[in-house]
Amino acid sequence: MERTFLMIKPDGVQRGLIGEIISRFERKGLKLVAGKFEVLSEERVMAHYAEHVNKPFFLGLKRYITSGPCFLFVFEGKDIVRITREMIGATNPAESSPGTIRGDYALEIGMNVIHGSDSPETASREIAIHFTPDEISSYVRIDEPYLYE
Ligand code: RTP
Ligand code: MG
Repeated sequence: MERTFLMIKPDGVQRGLIGEIISRFERKGLKLVAGKFEVLSEERVMAHYAEHVNKPFFLGLKRYITSGPCFLFVFEGKDIVRITREMIGATNPAESSPGTIRGDYALEIGMNVIHGSDSPETASREIAIHFTPDEISSYVRIDEPYLYE
């Protein structure tokens, strides 16, 4: 099984979308294995978005992502990085398909509600930035025999 790091950004928290978004992943059959609520420190934002530190939008991105609490969580499932990125939709919500999270709940690239890791390697790196191993639970969901062939 693969794991991915997901985060409801401050706009999603303020707009009361945590439950709606988590429900989508749960109903899909994905397994929640960690979750916490916090305001990200500058150090964590720099580590998390290291690839974007020199981009022109980085200062705005940092201000946005530290403007309030985020909900950070880890889901587990087969091929989960690809599946969750599809469910999240394109980076710019103006171009995200209806039915995706950004397509249904957001309008602009600078307020796009949720983050999701973009590859299994990125997921491992991001999970290690935000969670300690003892914050992640391994367990069997009772519906797994009816989710996986
Ligand atoms: P994320 O990492 O947050 O899941 O988003 P993503 O993979 O779809 O997009 P990425 O290229 O990694 O960009 C990270 C976040 O930076 C903000 N952004 N703003 N103004 C801009 O041109 C711009 N480009 C990116 C967005 O919040 C994006 O989610
Ligand atoms: Mg990204």
